[in-house]
Amino acid sequence: MNIKQALFRAKMLLAGNNIEDASIESEVLLGYVLGIDRARLLASLDADISPEQRQNFMKLVARRSKGEPTAYITGHREFYGLDFNVNPQVLIPRPETELLVDRAISLCREYKYNKIADIGTGCGAIAVSLAVTMPGIHIYATDISDGVLRVAGQNAAKHGAEDRIKFLKGELLEPLQEPVDLIIANLPYVRQREIPAKGPLSYEPASALNGGEEGLDKIGGLCRGVGSKLNSNGSLLLEIGQGQGEAVKVILHKYFPLADIEIEKDLAGIERMVVLRLTQY
Ligand SMILES: C[S@@+](CC[C@H](N)C(=O)[O-])C[C@H]1O[C@@H](n2cnc3c(N)ncnc32)[C@H](O)[C@@H]1O
Repeated sequence: MNIKQALFRAKMLLAGNNIEDASIESEVLLGYVLGIDRARLLASLDADISPEQRQNFMKLVARRSKGEPTAYITGHREFYGLDFNVNPQVLIPRPETELLVDRAISLCREYKYNKIADIGTGCGAIAVSLAVTMPGIHIYATDISDGVLRVAGQNAAKHGAEDRIKFLKGELLEPLQEPVDLIIANLPYVRQREIPAKGPLSYEPASALNGGEEGLDKIGGLCRGVGSKLNSNGSLLLEIGQGQGEAVKVILHKYFPLADIEIEKDLAGIERMVVLRLTQY
């Protein structure tokens, strides 16, 4: 069997199991089995694969067909142009979170921020991307889970950022030892009743998804503590779920009645982040 035939077979299987982007997913999985990138795979369509490679590949395709995310199968996901290690203890970083990174970079450049806290760092996607893009910046990255922080630490080391990111274990802002210029957080915000028992999301850790009844338990808890952990000209950047913008604005307005608070949309036109800038404190 050659690469082209293997890909065709996998694509039919995945598509038949309602897996979106069956072609790309097949290519990523076969590239992983063969140890080559997608570009090289696509340039070698007529090359033969061994029976063992075929068998390994089809095992992975079967796992993907049942809904297991490709990132957990391969142990990798690209975010902000960087390769991140992932495992089922961490959320798979999402493309829309790259918008937060872009916004954080523009805030840092505009207001000359140099100390950031990434709360709920997961695999370290936000913290590591910021550290790599802005070498002069110091970052605290917190999470509640040791296992999660281990993965984040590996990713920081992989991208040469371990000296500028201090990983801290603890609840929300509690482990922060000093106020910072920018707090950025993609905390769990899925409404508890909307967490599916089946499908790709069911493979991800509930601790990374579950935001309580209205999805705002963690975000609300963070907002409560921000006042004492943000410098007087600082900013807060929160990723939110669809339709949560106004509710988060109301929470923030309670603690910061004079601050500028904006809801920003992603490329699909969905409210995706809330940006608070302290101006009068
Ligand atoms: C939605 S994931 C985001 C991960 C990563 N920041 C990203 O954008 O890909 C939320 C993360 O928050 C962490 N978390 C949940 N509750 C927390 C809490 N009370 N304090 C700190 N981190 C928390 C979870 O362990 C998880 O890693």
